[in-house]
Amino acid sequence: MKYQNILFEAKEGVGVLTFNRPKALNALNPETFDEISHVIGRVQGDSDVRVLVLTGAGEKAFVAGADISEFPRMNSLQARAFAERGQDVFFRLETLPKPVIACVNGFALGGGCELAMSCDFIYASDKARFGQPEVNLGIIPGFGGTQRLARLVGRAAAKELCMTGEMLDAQQAKAMGLVTRVFPADQLMEETMKVAHLLASRAPNVLRSIKQVVDRGMDVDLKTGCALEAEAFGVCFASKDTREGVSAFLEKRKPQFSRSLED
Ligand code: COA
Repeated sequence: MKYQNILFEAKEGVGVLTFNRPKALNALNPETFDEISHVIGRVQGDSDVRVLVLTGAGEKAFVAGADISEFPRMNSLQARAFAERGQDVFFRLETLPKPVIACVNGFALGGGCELAMSCDFIYASDKARFGQPEVNLGIIPGFGGTQRLARLVGRAAAKELCMTGEMLDAQQAKAMGLVTRVFPADQLMEETMKVAHLLASRAPNVLRSIKQVVDRGMDVDLKTGCALEAEAFGVCFASKDTREGVSAFLEKRKPQFSRSLED
C-alpha cells in the first residue's frame, strides 16, 4: 500500500509512523485511518518491529483531530460509522501486542488526544497542547475520548475537559497523569527513541504480558486483576527469554533476549 497521509519507517527494531497532512494539521480523514490500519497489520506481523512510535510531521501538530471538513456531508448514521471506524483502529493500536509510544510534538486535540491516549504512554514536547475541543463544534468526542480520558485522569477532570473544551499545556497534562514525560521540543524525538530502543532490547513476550495484564486489569476488580497477573507470571516461565534473563543474572552477564513473541 502506498501511503498518502502518513510516513512509515522501521529500523533497529523501532517503527515510526508520522502523520503527514501538514496543511490540515495532520487531521484524521477516512484514508488516514486505512493507512494507520495497514501499518498496524504490518507491525503486528513483523518480528523486526518490536516497538511503534507515533508522531506528527511539522512543528505545529501531532494530530489536530478528526478532519472537520468531512463533517458537513455526514448524516447521523455515517457519523456513527466514522466514530466506530476510528474506535476500531484505536482499539487495534491499544491491543497491539507490542509497546506503542505517542511522541506528541504539538497539538493533540480531539481525535489526536484520543489517538495518543490509545498508546501505552505519552511523551510530549514542551510545545504540545492537549484537549477535547469537540464541544466547540456542538459534538462530543467520538473516538473513545470520554472513556479513556476518564480512566486516565478521573471522572471529574475528564468531564471538565470535555465540557469546557479548554486546552492543557504539556506540564498541565503531565500533572494530570495524561503525559508521563515532557522534553524540550528539539529533544523530544531523540529522547523518545532512546526509550523505544531500550524497549526493543527487552523480551517481546514479557512486554506483551505487561501491556495485557495492566490493560485488562484496569477493567476488573483488584482480585481478578491480580489473578490475571499470577497467570501471566506463570506463563513467563515457559519462555526461553525468562530462562535467559534469570541465567544471565546468575552468570553476571547481559541477557540476550529473542526478537520473537514466540520465544
Ligand atoms: N480538521 C480539518 N482541518 C483542520 C483541522 C481539523 N481538525 N485542524 C486544523 N485544520 C486546518 C485549518 O482549517 C487550516 O486550514 P487552512 O489553512 O486551509 O485554513 C489549517 O489546518 C491550519 O489551522 P489554523 O486553524 O489556521 O491554525 P491555528 O494555529 O490558528 O489554530 C488549532 C490551530 C489547532 C487551534 C485550530 O486549527 C483548531 O482549533 N483546529 C480544530 C481542532 C478541533 O476542533 N479538533 C477536534 C475535531 S472533532
